Amino acid sequence: MGEVDPAFIQAPEHRPKLSVIEAQGIPLIDLSVLSSPDDTFDDALVAEIGDACKKWGFFQVINHGVPLEKRQRIEEAARKFFAQPLEEKRKVRRDEKRVVGYYDTEHTKNVRDWKEVFDLTVHDPTFIPASLDPDDEEIDEWHNQWPEYPPELREACEEYAKEMEKLAFKLMTLIALSLGLPGNRFQGFFKDQTTFIRLNHYPPCPAPNLALGVGRHKDAGALTILAQDNVGGLEVKRKSDGEWIRVKPTPDAYIINVGDMIQVWSNEAYESVEHRVMVNSERERFSIPYFLNPAHYTIVKPLDELTNELNPANYRAYNWGKFFTTRKLSNFKKLSVENIQISHFKIQELSNKLEGGLTIN
Ligand code: OGA
Ligand code: NI
Repeated sequence: MGEVDPAFIQAPEHRPKLSVIEAQGIPLIDLSVLSSPDDTFDDALVAEIGDACKKWGFFQVINHGVPLEKRQRIEEAARKFFAQPLEEKRKVRRDEKRVVGYYDTEHTKNVRDWKEVFDLTVHDPTFIPASLDPDDEEIDEWHNQWPEYPPELREACEEYAKEMEKLAFKLMTLIALSLGLPGNRFQGFFKDQTTFIRLNHYPPCPAPNLALGVGRHKDAGALTILAQDNVGGLEVKRKSDGEWIRVKPTPDAYIINVGDMIQVWSNEAYESVEHRVMVNSERERFSIPYFLNPAHYTIVKPLDELTNELNPANYRAYNWGKFFTTRKLSNFKKLSVENIQISHFKIQELSNKLEGGLTIN
């Protein structure tokens, strides 16, 4: 990636500013009460989570119960994997049929990202629709592709995934409670989950003012739990003023962000937040997101308990598997059309619907 290929260059309005604004006020939430013997979901914590989801859609957690050595082990193994020559990494490369594995051609909003990734599915095999066609009921299976080197990568990933799942379910319980729902309200969606983990490597980039590690986007699933190293580069778009804010690395903290699906389920009580990754010319960066996703057959729509006549559903129902397959294919290569987004399922406001000359009294 010596010279910057035009495929990586962002449109001027999406280029990063090199003067970074460090995060002020991104909530840092202490989960230590969850590790107490009675495992209580105490009211103060529920309120804190609800507040963070509403105001930011993004927060960090500490004292989360994930052993530090599990994180260090996967981070170390990821470094070893990416340090290999390209031809080694390509032995486990992703293609049109095997959609997990190594690749370095991801596009976000049709601009190439300055990164290489290794994707693994958490439940192997994972079942997913074979095609985008809504009438095609054929189902594909995803199987992981494990590299020969480093040999400990597989076990490190599998152990880390178990820890992430425990944390993810605790967070989903807290989120459910904060919306006034039973703590287990979301549980059923994850029986045949399509959750995956990504190992990200962002090499140094000679043009950090033109390219991005990951272009602006929102995460499509339910929830993301991200481990970032100490280099920094993740930016979130602050809801209050639209300014891009750098999320300062906090040792052993996890960054949590609300995905599009929680936005739909909660009928926009909580909103997913746009974020992106800046690269730098000197230091490489590593990160590991865990994307909590439901079963492919999940029909995503605002929850009945959270909608009523005064607060009608803002989204039409959509099939997660078809949505996910569409996203996966379009991220793999440059397309001439916009990637699928939840906004495509948004129900127009009444005032827009009435634009054709109708009036209401
Ligand atoms: C992502 C993402 C952030 C990071 O992969 O969706 O937002 O810091 N990654 O790598
Ligand atoms: Ni993301």
